[in-house]
Amino acid sequence: MKNTTVTFQEAKNNNQKIAMLTAYDYSTAKLIDEAGVNAILVGDSLGMVILGYNDTISVTMEDMLHHSRAVSRGCENALVITDMPFMSYQTSVYDAVVNAGRLMKEGRAGAVKLEGGREVLPQVEAIVKASIPVMGHLGLTPQSINAFGGFKVQGKNEKAAKKLIEDAILLEQAGAFAVVLECIPESLAKLITQRISIPTIGIGAGAGCDGQVLVYQDMLGMYSDITPKFVKKFGNVGEEMKKAFAEYRKEVSTSVFPAMEHSFTMDDSILNKLY
Ligand code: KIV
Ligand code: NA
Repeated sequence: MKNTTVTFQEAKNNNQKIAMLTAYDYSTAKLIDEAGVNAILVGDSLGMVILGYNDTISVTMEDMLHHSRAVSRGCENALVITDMPFMSYQTSVYDAVVNAGRLMKEGRAGAVKLEGGREVLPQVEAIVKASIPVMGHLGLTPQSINAFGGFKVQGKNEKAAKKLIEDAILLEQAGAFAVVLECIPESLAKLITQRISIPTIGIGAGAGCDGQVLVYQDMLGMYSDITPKFVKKFGNVGEEMKKAFAEYRKEVSTSVFPAMEHSFTMDDSILNKLY
């Protein structure tokens, strides 16, 4: 079944959980899509897990367009949601609409995601008015890492928790179709999920959300620079890859690979003339 922003809302209304994973390339997106995952996020986490930066600040529009196009080619049923990178929407409403439009037209995204609450409401409203679905993102918003002073759990005191609840309501009113809640107490995420009618997608926000999202390298055990508490390893693909790479190296060095079955032949009579 084709997933859309409408089926996202239906899922919440019917108490069905939404499963979302990140992807950044065609082959991985295709596997995730074929596994029946509802949505693929082309996250700006690509700055970390694909490009090797230690945060998401340096990710550009060109990076996001490049990877969004690749992911969209691998998706038949999953909704493709592409992150707006740092400074592609904070600067003005005009920039936000132009860049969201590029992610849809050139990046083939079905929706865009941007970080923040009250600070970005005019942007959310304007992008939605342009018929581009917007997913919000509250809590630990990594583009604000330098303002937060590190990757830390958000919304633990009364003032911060109140602000998060208000921001979620404001995003819904501005027309967002869903909102990611990252790294906040599970009880607060549950409360926000009850207070708004659009789906909440949690990452490090507990089981009370309407859906979940993880970075695929985290859940496959392929990225070990940072391993947050909220990551569950559903596979040990990193170890498997390393084992296969080492086996390949060994077989090349001992001339075990390639064998005849991997090689092409030609007529001996022709070959003899070449000697
Ligand atoms: O960039 C990303 O992968 C994200 C998710 C962690 C929500 O924004
Ligand atoms: Na992101």
